[in-house]
Amino acid sequence: MSDGRKYNGPLDTGVGTLNDDHSKIFVVLNEVRHGLEKNEPTPDIASGAVFARELFSLHCAKEEYLMKEAGYANFDAAAKDHRKLSEIFDKFIEDVASGAADERNAADLILAIVEHIRTFDRDYAKSINAVLTVPHLELTMFRDVDG
Ligand SMILES: [Fe+2]
Ligand SMILES: [Fe+2]
Repeated sequence: MSDGRKYNGPLDTGVGTLNDDHSKIFVVLNEVRHGLEKNEPTPDIASGAVFARELFSLHCAKEEYLMKEAGYANFDAAAKDHRKLSEIFDKFIEDVASGAADERNAADLILAIVEHIRTFDRDYAKSINAVLTVPHLELTMFRDVDG
C-alpha cells in the first residue's frame, strides 16, 4: 500500500495492486457501514455505496484481464463469482437508496467479498504474479482515492 502498511494473513493475495484495490473498496464500504450504523441515511451514504460499486467493477475488470493474460485455468468460475458479488452489490445499492439497508447488510457484503478474496483471488493471484513481472502489465488504478 502507498502508505507503507502491508496486508498480511488471509486477505493478502501476494499482488500489491490487487491488495491496494481491496483495501480501497473496504475503506469505502466500511464508511458506508458506519453511516448505516448511525441509522441516519444520507445522500453521502448512498453515494459511498455507488462509489464502492464502481471501484469493485473496475477491480473485477482488472482481475479478469490479468487472469486472461495469465492463462488462469479456473477463469469461468472466478468470473462467475464476480458476477454473483456484483448482483449482491447492486441489491445493496438499491436497499441503501430506498432506506431498506442496515449495517448488517453492509457487513454481509464485506464478508462476501472477503470470502471471494480468500478463495478465488488468492488462487488466481499466483498466476497473475507471473504476468506482473512484465513491466507494462503492472497496472495501478484508483491511485487518487487516498491521495
Ligand atoms: Fe476477484
Ligand atoms: Fe479482488
